[in-house]
Amino acid sequence: MYYKKLKEFPDNFLWGSSTSAYQVEGAYDTDGKGLSVQDLHLPENGNTDFKIASDMYHHYKEDIRLMNELGMKAYRFSISWSRVIPNGSGKINEAGLKFYDDLINELVKNNIEPIVTLFHFDLPLALYKKGGWNDRQTIADFIDYSKLLFNRFGDRVKYWLTINEQNVMINHPNAVYPADAELPSKKKLYQQNHNMFVASAKVMDLCHSMILDGKIGPAPNITAIYPATSAPEDVIAADNWESIRCWLYLDMAVYGRYNALVWNYLQEKGYAPTIYPGDMEIISKSKPDFLGINYYATATVKAAKNDGHDCQPRNGDQQVMLGEEGVYRSAQNDNLKMTKFNWIIDPVGMRTTLRRIYSRYNLPIIITENGIGGEDSLNEDGKIHDKYRIDYFKQHFLQTRLALTDGVDIIGYCPWSFEDLVSTHQGYKKRYGFVYVDRSDSDIKDMRRIKKDSFDWYKKIIKENGSNI
Ligand code: BG6
Repeated sequence: MYYKKLKEFPDNFLWGSSTSAYQVEGAYDTDGKGLSVQDLHLPENGNTDFKIASDMYHHYKEDIRLMNELGMKAYRFSISWSRVIPNGSGKINEAGLKFYDDLINELVKNNIEPIVTLFHFDLPLALYKKGGWNDRQTIADFIDYSKLLFNRFGDRVKYWLTINEQNVMINHPNAVYPADAELPSKKKLYQQNHNMFVASAKVMDLCHSMILDGKIGPAPNITAIYPATSAPEDVIAADNWESIRCWLYLDMAVYGRYNALVWNYLQEKGYAPTIYPGDMEIISKSKPDFLGINYYATATVKAAKNDGHDCQPRNGDQQVMLGEEGVYRSAQNDNLKMTKFNWIIDPVGMRTTLRRIYSRYNLPIIITENGIGGEDSLNEDGKIHDKYRIDYFKQHFLQTRLALTDGVDIIGYCPWSFEDLVSTHQGYKKRYGFVYVDRSDSDIKDMRRIKKDSFDWYKKIIKENGSNI
């Protein structure tokens, strides 16, 4: 690319960080909280479960003090549906609502913009048992739940996200289902997917009608898919997978229609969902105000061979894609390094992804997740030296600034995660935070919060509004 004078991050740029309820709160059955599907996770492979997590439920004031010290302008977190409505529908749990009310007040007091995800992988168990997202009643329940939150918190929360990584829940259901659960068929998954689209669309409309200045968007996990070579067949395979994994979700949210290539694929494979009368009208009527994007890693693919080896075996890792008969097959990309947990590191891919998204949808973007999981430990000097995390963010912030310079409208960046939390399937040993939480998978110790080196580094970045990146 020719030399560019880098644009500055806008003055009101939402530098922040992210978490999700079940990964950070703990208190899984405290003060009337009902169980969610995540509470069924048993410790396996030496990983902890989600019952205590980082105990933010009891540490939130201390945590927000640290957010303030970090200089955070925004905090993206999710609300646990079963904490506020224990069975997913019906009786409300005032104690659960109070927790979020207090948390939000504390954020506002500290001038931190709350960005709230309505649903992040933790479906109330009672709804799951009734069929979960396969049951159309869950759409109505999600609307009632969202209405409750808009009503109680809409005076202070202006940024909302509908569903976290709906595409991960569909493409990697094992990443979000309890280990021993029977996974739904693809046909059922795409019906769940459709029902979630209807639910999200209704809730986007509701947000606009209930909240003055309310802004709402989706939060899928989006990544550029590279063809392994310039062979035209590989390019088609990349296009296939990018459409199925990414554009389907954003086309629905923004344009209110099924991506044509994906609809054809769903029909050919026999996965097409039933569309009920009125669904597409609802979906096409609603519009997001911005796009929340979770970005971790790109993927590289080559043409599928149709030789019986392109399959998607059960695999718990949401960034690992293996292939699908007749569609694509994953390929190695020798240009890129990996994290210790085998996730690809591709900062330039972030710029590519942001550019692709913006040129398709032309809506402001908040990066709602991006980060690196590693095995941090407390050093003898009482500190945590996570230089690898600083290097990772240095490169990703630079590529984001380059995307901004390219003309992409990016309004916020919330790295994953504010503090260490329980990874979706690799327990507490895979840490993401700027703040270390002193516990391990097997020992909850004292849950002491300790600032990592990356905390001080990020603090400076925020203070300078990214001008020295
Ligand atoms: C995203 C999820 O897929 O990636 C988070 O939204 C998750 O919930 C994050 O924690 C990192 O993944 P993992 O599996 O390393 O925890």
